[in-house]
Amino acid sequence: DRSLRIAVLGAGVVGTEVIRSLVTQEGDLSARVGSGLELIGVAVRDTSAPRDSVIDPALLTSDAGSLVDRADLVVELMGGLEPARTLILRAFAAGASVVTANKALVAAHGPELYEAAEAAGADLYFEAAVAGAIPVVRALRESLAGDEISRVLGIVNGTTNYILDEMTTAGLAFDVALGQAQELGYAEADPTADVEGHDAAAKAAIIASLAFHTRIPLSAVACEGISAVTKEDVAAAAESGHVIKLLAIVENTAGGVQARVHPALVPTGHPLAGVHGAFNAVFVESESAGELMFYGRGAGGRPTASAVLGDVVAAARHRVHGGLAPAESAYAGLAAAPSADA
Ligand code: NDP
Ligand code: HSE
Repeated sequence: DRSLRIAVLGAGVVGTEVIRSLVTQEGDLSARVGSGLELIGVAVRDTSAPRDSVIDPALLTSDAGSLVDRADLVVELMGGLEPARTLILRAFAAGASVVTANKALVAAHGPELYEAAEAAGADLYFEAAVAGAIPVVRALRESLAGDEISRVLGIVNGTTNYILDEMTTAGLAFDVALGQAQELGYAEADPTADVEGHDAAAKAAIIASLAFHTRIPLSAVACEGISAVTKEDVAAAAESGHVIKLLAIVENTAGGVQARVHPALVPTGHPLAGVHGAFNAVFVESESAGELMFYGRGAGGRPTASAVLGDVVAAARHRVHGGLAPAESAYAGLAAAPSADA
């Protein structure tokens, strides 16, 4: 049996770390899947730009379309709506499965992508699109699928949480803190998406769609960012025993699903007040499970790569082990793997 051919689209903050794992952990990942995994190419805009040494220059191409046509599994880490959308649809048309971290795309075109995947008998995975390393998409889509979720609220944008935290704890100016978040690889290519709440709104739309088993478009999410929050606001909040956090709130009300993103005063004793830096936290309130809290690194190359790689393994297992659901194929993958000391 031949190896599964993996194409990575994008070699930026996240793509580089995903490639690092695919290259340096190839043996372990293949054993977990029960099949060889071959990185066949990496699509970028500029093939002559300096890259991390883990990326073989011979794998680089600016022709993402041709690369997609040769792949069994496409990992989209370019960001933006186009050409990401067209390339993903092209991947499905060729029968490939897709892993993406692109919340803007999933929020804007999720239904179209799902339908294309279904029509092709392929899979769409996007764990990294919401809250970085935290496995909240899988929790909502699978673990809680038998429960009735009433409300989800959380800190789902690392950049804005980092900025507000630095303004609060280190007294940094807004622009200085934003610059640091960009340096650390937390911010979007255009950080307006973070600062104005659009990134959190995309995640809120995805969370609401998964939690309430419906399609909540981005346009249905009321959105206010943190650009108007001043050092004075932060200081005044502290004096009254609060911290300012950008919250995404989705709830199933008598009047229908409501989703919104806005800065909120959180009492310092509340668990969300203790979420620092680029960490994220997601609270889920449901009928049977009650309250659940998911916490972890919400942005950055390595944490996000963890979620992407988890999806790569799940998607690969599903392809290799046919009709088995991802959770079951995890065991089939173990059974097919070489013994631990091989
Ligand atoms: P970067 O801007 O660091 O990297 C983008 C990569 O995509 C670059 O290698 C770029 O090529 C390539 N690229 C962009 N446009 C094209 C194009 N038209 N054709 C070919 N290649 C292209 O982004 P990130 O790694 O930060 O983010 C990637 C995705 O992951 C985004 O969807 C983002 O929202 C998401 N994400 C990011 C997180 C983070 O913490 N950074 C966390 C969770 C999700 P070149 O290098 O030549 O410019
Ligand atoms: N820019 C995003 C953030 C990346 O700061 O949370 C993770 O989705």
